[in-house]
Amino acid sequence: MSARKKLVAGNWKMNGTLAANAELLHGIKQGALATACDLVVCAPFPYLAQTSAELLGSPVTWGAQDCSAHAQGAYTGEVSAAMLTDFGCRWVIVGHSERRQYHAESSALVAAKTMQVLRAGLTPIVCVGETFEERDAGQTLAVIESQLRAVTSALAQAGESQWVNRVVVAYEPVWAIGTGRTASSTQAQEVHAFIRAQWRTAFGTSADALRILYGGSVKPGNAAELFDQPDVDGGLIGGASLKADDFLGIAASA
Ligand code: G3P
Repeated sequence: MSARKKLVAGNWKMNGTLAANAELLHGIKQGALATACDLVVCAPFPYLAQTSAELLGSPVTWGAQDCSAHAQGAYTGEVSAAMLTDFGCRWVIVGHSERRQYHAESSALVAAKTMQVLRAGLTPIVCVGETFEERDAGQTLAVIESQLRAVTSALAQAGESQWVNRVVVAYEPVWAIGTGRTASSTQAQEVHAFIRAQWRTAFGTSADALRILYGGSVKPGNAAELFDQPDVDGGLIGGASLKADDFLGIAASA
């Protein structure tokens, strides 16, 4: 049993209305007191004020799904990490595969965003993961190594040793996201152990504290087996985070 506290984070993606969010957040808040893990919701930008108001005083914390790689300035439409602190955010998802795919986000850009999140005092949830084609070609670990190296190199260059312990990594095999094709616990454990080994190479014993989440079709029925793996420290949940009972059901396995 690791000393790392389990973390279950919901990624709402581009979903929600004020009315639906109020019902969802109320349900999560009600059930949160019974969960032993850290619970996080990552809402779309327009709903951060509502999320902050609804969750204030509860054990549930919240964050955003992206942020700018810049601190401020002439970047129309972008949102800085510092702005997110105005809404009580604690977390920011960076490098989600949907942003890497649809917005051509490179690992260098993901690393720059990670630094902005850390500079603002927030915790980045850095997403890495391979496509089906890359796994099929036996390239999984090479892809993960490359995506992670961009972040570990930027962290080493920043020279802020306390930042290393504030990062969370999420392994999200692209072929498992939204498909119902969850990675097996063996597949997840293999990649999580690799991620921890890469972190240990870069930062030594800090790797023992690194929380590594699994994301990709996590449901209440499969969460326990995944979370029981020695290097799986929780989950980054998409679809199932939009229903309070499902999200809490997953958290109950953590
Ligand atoms: O960021 C979490 C997300 O990519 C996983 O989505 O719907 O497969 O749980 P889903």
